[in-house]
Amino acid sequence: MNKPMTRRECLLECVALGSLRLMPGLALAESVLAVETQERNAPLKPTPPNEIGPFYKQLAPNNAHLRAANDPGLPLSVGGRVLSTRGDLLPAAKVEIWQADHLGVYDLDGYRYRASLSSDAAGRYSFDSVMPGHYPGRVCQHIHYVVTAPGHKRLVTQLYFATDPAFEGNPDRNYVRDPIVMSRDLVRPVMLVGDPNAIHASVDFDVVLQRL
Ligand SMILES: [Fe+2]
Repeated sequence: MNKPMTRRECLLECVALGSLRLMPGLALAESVLAVETQERNAPLKPTPPNEIGPFYKQLAPNNAHLRAANDPGLPLSVGGRVLSTRGDLLPAAKVEIWQADHLGVYDLDGYRYRASLSSDAAGRYSFDSVMPGHYPGRVCQHIHYVVTAPGHKRLVTQLYFATDPAFEGNPDRNYVRDPIVMSRDLVRPVMLVGDPNAIHASVDFDVVLQRL
């Protein structure tokens, strides 16, 4: 397999093929370096907030395995990074998550499908769960998040799934069907992984926090 191009090689290729043109007087090497630097320093867009809903509970366990061995529903793994808008990885951020089970039922007595995790030294977090079900009063499947890190604003948000039947295959157009989904950015692609006898869903969800 070919090694992927570096950004610099890609830019040079663009120049060679005419899809990137330089104004007369601009030197190639300096221009490519300037593009690289500006892209690296471009601020990341903060993750949009979304309402907290009625089912948040404090003091959830720090256990990334929300799904027990025989739990019904489509197994789901979610992971991502916690970052600042400057692109800094944020280790030891607190990532609180809670969701309904595959039938759309929240555990209000205990802590099933609830966790309070910490991002690792590389700013990463991950957990294993099941695809949450729909429930009355909400149109879309979702996982709730509260993310906190020193020096950054607390983020309350929700993760949605592009495969949600409510979107009928077109989340770009239909994400507004749930009046609580205010941003398309919160609807993430779903990848099916594993072999056909043990398939599960995988979702990446980076969280970008604003500095205080
Ligand atoms: Fe909810």
